[in-house]
Parts: sequence; C-alpha cells; structure tokens
Amino acid sequence: MSATVYEATTSAPVNIACIKYWGKRDTKLILPTNSSLSVTLDQDLLRSTTTSRADPSFTKDRLWLNGKEEEIKDGGRMDNCIKEMKRLRKVLVEDKDPNAPKLSEMKLHIVSFNTVPTAAGLASSASGFAALTTSLASLFALPLNPSELSLIARRGSGSACRSLFGGYVAWEMGSKPDGSDSLAIEVAPRAHWPEMRAVVCVVSGEKKDVGSSVGMQLTVETSPLLQHRIKHVVPMRMQAISKAIKARDFDAFAKITMADSNQFHAVALDTTPPIFYMNDVSRNLIALVEEYNRVCLQKTGHLGAAYTFDAGPNAVIYTLPEHMKAITELVLYYFPVPPAPEERTSQASAVGFYDVLNIFPEANGKPTGKLVEGFNEEKLKKWGTGAVKGVIHCKVGDGPKILGKEASLMTAEGTPK
Ligand code: DP6
Repeated sequence: MSATVYEATTSAPVNIACIKYWGKRDTKLILPTNSSLSVTLDQDLLRSTTTSRADPSFTKDRLWLNGKEEEIKDGGRMDNCIKEMKRLRKVLVEDKDPNAPKLSEMKLHIVSFNTVPTAAGLASSASGFAALTTSLASLFALPLNPSELSLIARRGSGSACRSLFGGYVAWEMGSKPDGSDSLAIEVAPRAHWPEMRAVVCVVSGEKKDVGSSVGMQLTVETSPLLQHRIKHVVPMRMQAISKAIKARDFDAFAKITMADSNQFHAVALDTTPPIFYMNDVSRNLIALVEEYNRVCLQKTGHLGAAYTFDAGPNAVIYTLPEHMKAITELVLYYFPVPPAPEERTSQASAVGFYDVLNIFPEANGKPTGKLVEGFNEEKLKKWGTGAVKGVIHCKVGDGPKILGKEASLMTAEGTPK
C-alpha cells in the first residue's frame, strides 16, 4: 500500500417521484421518454453510504454491497459509471495538472451500505448510484456541479440522477441523442418548503416479478396510453407541479401527485402482458387517503395528504406536519404494524430495518390506531397485523453529503469494515 490513502466517503438520499419516470428512448444511455419530478427524503433513516478508494496495489475494480462482494460486469451500469468518472478525472484534473496523482490509472475498491430496506421493496438503486457518483467525484476532486454529476448517476439508474439534489428536483428529459441535456435540476431547495413530510408504508408483498427496467420497456413497446401520457399529460403536469411547489400550494401538489401515480399504474396495466404493482393493501391505502381528504376538505377546504406508489405495493403518503399524527393513527387503525426490532446498532443491521418513528412524545413514541372524527369507517377493511410491515416518517431532505474519515466503511486493507 502507498503512503497516501486516496479515499472518500459520501452518503446520498432516496427520492420519491411525484411525476413518474416510466420509459426509455435510449436504454444504453438511459434517456427517458418523459421528464419527471421528485421530492428528496431526509437521510436520517433512508440513505446509501459509499466509500471509494484508489490504490496502486489494487489489482482490479471491486465492489461490496451491504457486505457482499458483487461482480462489476464489463459494460454494465456500474462499469459505465466508474469508467466515465475515471475518464473525467483524467480530462478535467490529470491532463491539466501534471502533479495531480494518476488516480484514473489505479484500480478502485468501493464499499457501499444501504439503510434502505431493500428487502421491503423500497428502491435503493437511486440513493446507491447517487452515493457512488458523489463519492468518486470527491475522491477524484472533480470540478463538477450536481447537475453535471447527475448525468453520470443517470447511467447507473435513471431515477438516481434526481438524488444529486435535496428538496424538489426535476429530471429534464432533454432532446440531444448523446444525452448531455438529460439531467437533474433543482426546482426548489429543501428550505423553500421544509414542512413537506412523507409517511412511507411498507407493504408486505412477494418480490415483484417485473422489475422497473424490464417493465418500462414493455410499456414503451406495447402501451398506446403511454404515448398520450408522454405527449399530452406529463409536459403540462411538470409545469403545474413546479408552480405548485414554488407557491407551496399543497392542494395542487397533492392532486397532481395522486393523478400521476394513478396514470403510471394505468400505463402499467395498459402494457401487454399487463403489469400490476399495487395489491389490495395498496388500494386500501388509497381509499384511506381519499377518505381522509374528503374529511379535510369538509373541515378546512384543503386536502391533507397525497399517495404515490412506485413499481411495487408500498405507499408513500406526502403530507404536512399537522396531519402526521392523524394519518399515522389511521394507518395503524386499519393496518396494525408488528413490533419493531429492539435496537439497530450497526450499518449492517440497519439493512432491512423499519420502524414507527417517535413523533408522539406524549404517547412515548408508540402511536396506536385511531379513527379521525367524521371518517367513514366502512371505506376500507381492517387488516390483520403485518399487512403493513412498518411505517417510516421522513421529512424533505438535503442532497448528498461528503463525510469525514471517521465515516469510512473500509479497513486499512480496503475491504468492508
Ligand atoms: C416507478 O430508475 O429504477 O420508481 O433507469 O431502469 O434503473 P432504471 O429504472 P428506475 O425506475 C424508477 C421508476 C419509478 C418512477 C420514478 O422513480 O420516477
């Protein structure tokens, strides 16, 4: 091992789309058929952390994910990202400064941990590729801004490009064949509308049989509805939701978010063969939010919550602080959640963890199920324990963070700690 250790550790957040990305016009470069928009969630519970190190003694690029070594396939998504970052290191740093260490010629070791419950079907590829990209950018001292870095994260997983920013983020589809204008931009920072909350309901389900990448291309090939969505619906919604975010207009934000989730699942259903990502629990969570909104509208003239579902049965319910208690109690009334594990001590044991966070100091952190006044109990059925496995409370959060040496995930030898 050389005397100097070239290493960087960063963490990156999860994002949940309000306007969904579904379909590629170029599968190699990962260029989408429509623009999309998401909210970045805080990294308190859900995040990916990545340490990367370059060393002349390393003999090949190696990657460990949640403690297990993964193959870096030649020409695969991971390989594309790493190669592009090395190329940028050479062009932007080493070719300009003859004294800069030739990190682009060294092999890399990369160690990454997700505290996103992948087992529960929550996507970790977005935070994972965002953490990888920012960690390599920091290691290589690349003079690039988050939009420029989002171009590389995009090559790992489309939705990952949106995790390069905190707050409210758009992925502009772009029009150039080389993809150089298909990147993420900040619509508004977290601080512009810090009240936004997400109640993530982890729904039990079999592992999904159609992954996003395969599913969306089947939709592109077979769904006539997708063409209508791309041309006539998404452009309008992108404008309308950006305006709603800028004005902090929760009613408009909620209406568009729910409509777009529903249309995404409609184009999945319009695919041949049809794709079903939501299950009966998901549909009952929709009924819960719809009925809650009816009550809110009647009482205050405003909506209280918005559901959205990705390529799986989990619900993400966007809401505002004053509704967190009522929504959590409603979810627990209809879907009793099993007790959380006693403790989580290390990065590794945090994988697969979900919990109800302590937003109820008065109830000692253990909220119980409760109906809201005026809520029509018959609108959905009461489920047995475990239909919803966990409820995770998040706030809108910041973008990737560069961490100190103490956060390194690597031993002196360059393997996972
Ligand atoms: C439903 O980004 O996972 O979550 O680009 O093939 O890696 P690839 O797909 P991915 O798809 C995400 C789809 C979605 C909607 C969204 O996040 O916008």
